[in-house]
Amino acid sequence: MAKEVIVCSGAKHIGKNIAKKFGAKFQILTTKKFPDGEICVKFEEDVRGKNLIFVQSFFGEISDKIIEVLFAAYNAKDLGAKRIELLSLYPPYFRQDKRFNSGEAISIQILGKLFEVFDKVYFVDPHLHRIKEVKEVFKKGERLSSVNVLTNYIQKLKLKNPVFVGPDIESDQWAQNVAIILGKKHVILRKKRLGDRKVQVKLDGGIDLKNKELVIIDDIISTGHTMLKTIKLLKKFKPKKIYCIAVHGLFLENSLKKLSKYAEILSTNTIPSKVSKIDISGIAEEIK
Ligand code: R5P
Repeated sequence: MAKEVIVCSGAKHIGKNIAKKFGAKFQILTTKKFPDGEICVKFEEDVRGKNLIFVQSFFGEISDKIIEVLFAAYNAKDLGAKRIELLSLYPPYFRQDKRFNSGEAISIQILGKLFEVFDKVYFVDPHLHRIKEVKEVFKKGERLSSVNVLTNYIQKLKLKNPVFVGPDIESDQWAQNVAIILGKKHVILRKKRLGDRKVQVKLDGGIDLKNKELVIIDDIISTGHTMLKTIKLLKKFKPKKIYCIAVHGLFLENSLKKLSKYAEILSTNTIPSKVSKIDISGIAEEIK
């Protein structure tokens, strides 16, 4: 039976397009918040016997959005839905993948247990660091990569002499892969994180960056410090132009304005913003 898309609150900007890619019907989940902060979810159409795929992006009020999908998932089961899946556009909590300080919760492990209610969970480019595969935490999880979506968009920019730059070792899965597909050069920097808002980046020479279009690609722009430090380092090589591309553009703390002074900033629309011009909805085609 065909899927039906349940558009959750964080995916209203894209849910309809995703349903189109699936060739599926969609309904928007009604979410009501009471004055005391409690949430009530409601399906406007019958879900009995259906194969549902919830689409949610966990930015902003993350905790509310988690409760929303969990309540909706249990509600769907209670109402007789046949199968329930989740497409997580901006996946939450992957960065808390270890107990950094004694007594801390390993948030992603807890989320792994909570999401067991779903028959399948798809994550668009989750931040995998110490965890190498989503299945280590989410038994029914699967990672979807945005590399093809990014490559198609970048190709349309018709850059003459691009060099792709990854600000840290984990970003090679985007910077390196896009470069390989396009047959271009890439370089991966060494990053040291000294705090939430303090990073150092280093480039081990050997690549000519002068007059090149430098395309920095990372999974997340959060406070923007990683990109800012990277831009400042690259500027010394007198490039023609710098692009900063993120899969997930959170752009916290006025970082979009700060970064835009030095580079053209782009992101996919897993999180909506005025620079989220790279449409991720095509990734739905990777879901069977
Ligand atoms: C972490 O390693 C991620 O890949 C990003 O580099 C990081 O989340 C960016 O954070 P910020 O924008 O705060 O430097």
